[in-house]
Amino acid sequence: MTHSPQMGRIISRGMANLFQLILERMGYCVYRYQEPPKPDPSKRYNTIATRYTHRAPFPWKTYSPWFDRTFLSVYDGVRGVTLIPEDRCYYIYHLAEYCAHLGGTMAECGVYRGGSAYFIALALERSQSTDRHLHLFDTFSGMPAKYISKNDPHKPNEFSRTSLAEVRAILADYSFVEFHPGTIPETFSSIEESTRFSFVHLDVDLYRSNKSCCEYFYGRMITGGVLLFDEYGFEGYEFTERLAIDEFFKDKPEHPFVLPTG
Ligand SMILES: C[S@@+](CC[C@H](N)C(=O)[O-])C[C@H]1O[C@@H](n2cnc3c(N)ncnc32)[C@H](O)[C@@H]1O
Repeated sequence: MTHSPQMGRIISRGMANLFQLILERMGYCVYRYQEPPKPDPSKRYNTIATRYTHRAPFPWKTYSPWFDRTFLSVYDGVRGVTLIPEDRCYYIYHLAEYCAHLGGTMAECGVYRGGSAYFIALALERSQSTDRHLHLFDTFSGMPAKYISKNDPHKPNEFSRTSLAEVRAILADYSFVEFHPGTIPETFSSIEESTRFSFVHLDVDLYRSNKSCCEYFYGRMITGGVLLFDEYGFEGYEFTERLAIDEFFKDKPEHPFVLPTG
């Protein structure tokens, strides 16, 4: 049996769609890979490839302390319970450490299995702060369907391979950690109105969840405090997380900026 070229194209597109559907059901997000432009050999520095390609700014090695033995020995302990790689966890830990001297309370929204929260707890534990408090917000059962908007690259119940009991066990040594299981923003009502925050790590991925977090935390930050967003600079989040944050900060004096880790 022979197929016309058009029939061949229809069959291969059908196969590609089926393959994409299977991968998405398995929790993967599929994007078409775009070849970055070739570096221009006549230029000494080829700094910009595409807006979504990370290139080291200089053609020599830069210090990468997230691969130092001391940091890795901690990271290795939580490697299996975080989606966040070494470099981003390094920023979380050191920004929390920096903010600890401001006092106040810290929070994380989007805890999943507890890995990134562990770094905040550790920074607080090692700080001189006498008033340590870490609030953790998540459903602890996966992405809440009612907060997923049409451009969000996540499906209901994604990240459900976790439980409150598992995360409690990981953070058992830190008595200053308080858990708020349920959906954001509803769970914010369990926080005392006068609470002020010095460091908040936001890793909720979704447009609506990010909007709610900005609305809740912005006016409750201590001067000099840090709101750290995961994924703000990631390709695929331009019309979800980044849009929510940019919309929120449009009329604010502060402007988000992108770390080289995204
Ligand atoms: C990418 S995961 C967090 C990863 C985690 N920080 C780590 O170290 O691997 C995103 C989490 O955000 C949570 N989330 C998103 N929107 C939420 C909402 N409105 N209420 C509660 N949890 C939410 C999901 O349940 C999920 O666990």
